[in-house]
Amino acid sequence: MPITKICCMGAGYVGGPTCSVIALKCPHIRVTVVDKSSERIAQWNSAKLPIYEPGLDAVVQKCRGRNLFFSTDIAQAIEEAELIFISVNTPTKRFGNGKGRAADLKYVESAARMIAEISAGDKIVVEKSTVPVRAAESIMNILRANHKPGVSYQILSNPEFLAEGTAIDDLLNADRVLIGGEESPEGQAAIEELCKVYEHWIPRKNILTTNTWSSELSKLAANAFLAQRISSINSLSAVCESTGADVSEVARAVGLDSRIGSKFLQASVGFGGSCFQKDILNLVYICECLNLPEVAAYWQQVIDMNEYQKSRFSAKVIESLFNTVTDKKISILGFAFKKNTGDTRESPAIHVARTLIDEGAKLHIYDPKVEESQIMSDLSNCGAILEPELVKSRVSIFKDAYSATKNTHAIVVCTEWDEFVELDYKRIYAEMMKPAYIFDGRKILDHDKLQKLGFIVQTIGKKIECQKLRGSGKIKLKIEEKWYRYHFEALS
Ligand code: NAI
Repeated sequence: MPITKICCMGAGYVGGPTCSVIALKCPHIRVTVVDKSSERIAQWNSAKLPIYEPGLDAVVQKCRGRNLFFSTDIAQAIEEAELIFISVNTPTKRFGNGKGRAADLKYVESAARMIAEISAGDKIVVEKSTVPVRAAESIMNILRANHKPGVSYQILSNPEFLAEGTAIDDLLNADRVLIGGEESPEGQAAIEELCKVYEHWIPRKNILTTNTWSSELSKLAANAFLAQRISSINSLSAVCESTGADVSEVARAVGLDSRIGSKFLQASVGFGGSCFQKDILNLVYICECLNLPEVAAYWQQVIDMNEYQKSRFSAKVIESLFNTVTDKKISILGFAFKKNTGDTRESPAIHVARTLIDEGAKLHIYDPKVEESQIMSDLSNCGAILEPELVKSRVSIFKDAYSATKNTHAIVVCTEWDEFVELDYKRIYAEMMKPAYIFDGRKILDHDKLQKLGFIVQTIGKKIECQKLRGSGKIKLKIEEKWYRYHFEALS
C-alpha cells in the first residue's frame, strides 16, 4: 500500500524542514506536521517561521496549504496517516536515573502512547528523533501492549543527519538516508515503503537499509565521530599556541591525507548545538550500562576536551585584558551555536558570556538571528548560576555590530557569521576604547589586517606574535616565557 498521508509529531528543527522537503518532493503525499505547542504551529503557519534556515521559507511557501500542513490536531493527523514520524525532542535527562547523561525519552514515550491510543488502522511508526540503541523495542512494547484489535505496527529507525544552517541542502542532497527495520517480511515491507518516499529525490544507492539497532547506533556514532574530530583539532590548538605551530596549517596538512579528509578540522572556541553533547553523553551512558567503562571513558574525553576549550578561550580573554574584566565593556559578536541558524542550544557563546559576566564585565551582544529574549533567557536560566537581575544589569543587546562594538574594550567573536568578516574594522577600531582587543574564537578574520589597524589580536591555535601596544613598549608575552622554560628544562 503506497504511502499517501504522513504525520510528523514534532515541528522542530528536524520535523519542520524534513517534512517540508518531503512535501516538496512528493506532491502526491499529504504531509501534516503536528506539535503540542500551539505557539510553534502558529509560527509555522505565519510569515515568520519559528526557525531560521536558508532556503526553508521558499519550500514552505511553495507547499504550505497544498500538501503541507501544520496543525495542533495531533489526533486527527495520527488517525489519517499511514506513516508517522516521531520527531520530538530527546534531551539529556535532568533528574533521576542517568541524570545529566541518559537521553530523556519521555516525549518519545508520550508520542508512542498517543499513537497507540488513537490508531484504528495499521501504521508504520518511524523514529526520526535520535534515541538510544534499542529504543525501538520500548516503543514497540508500548504500542503492542496498548494496541486496538486488528491494528498492527511496524517500527522503523530513520535517523536524521541534517545539520542546522544547511538543513535544506542536506535534505535535498543527503549523503545517505539510513533506514533500519525488523528483518521479518513485514519489517522489510515497511522499509520498502519508506524507501519509496525518499526515492522521489534520493538515488536508491544512497538509501542504506540495516537492522533497527545498527541504524539507531549509527546516528550516535556519526555525531560522536564528528564531535571527536573537533575535539581532536581543538586539543592540538592548545599545543600550537604553546609552540609556534599554526593549527590552520596543521589542519590543512593533516586533512590533505585522503584517509583523513579535510572537513570538520576547523579549530574554534568549541562545538555547540543541541545534538553533539547530548548524543555523546547518551553514548557514554549506554556504554556504562553495558559495563564497558573503557569505551565510556574514551567518548567522555570528547566532551571534556570541549569544556576545556571553552574555558581556555574564556580564560585567555580575561588574562589578556590584564587579568581583570570588572566593569570593562566587551562586545560579543554572535550568540548562535553556528552561523546560519538562530539556535543557541549549547552555544559556546553562552559559556564565554557567562564567564565574563561572572568576572564583572559588561557585555554588548549582537547576533543577526537570535532574539533578545532568547539571549537573556540563555544567560539567566542555563545552569541557574546567574541571577536574572544581574544579567539584566550587565548585558545589553544590539541590533548591529557597529553599535555593539562602540566604546567597548574588546570584541569576542563567538559565531562565524559571514557578515563579521565583511565589517569595516577601521571604523570599529576608531570607535573602540584603546588598547582595542579582538578575540577571534572562530578564526574567520584577517588577523594581519586587524593588527595593522591597531588591534591587539588573539585567536585559537596560533602562537601570539609580539605586538606593540600603541604608546607602550614591547609586551613580553607569557606564552614565550613558557616556551623558553620548556626548552631550557629539556636541555638542562
Ligand atoms: P525541537 O525541540 O526543535 O523540536 C521538538 C518538538 O517536538 C517541539 O516543538 C515539541 O513541542 C514537540 N513535541 C514534543 N512532544 C510532542 C508530542 N508528544 N506531540 C507533538 N509534539 C511534541 O527538537 P529538534 O531539534 O527538532 O530535534 C528533534 C530530534 O531530532 C531530537 O531527537 C534530536 O536529537 C534529533 N536531531 C536534531 C538535529 C538538529 O540539528 N536539531 C539533527 C538531527 C537529529
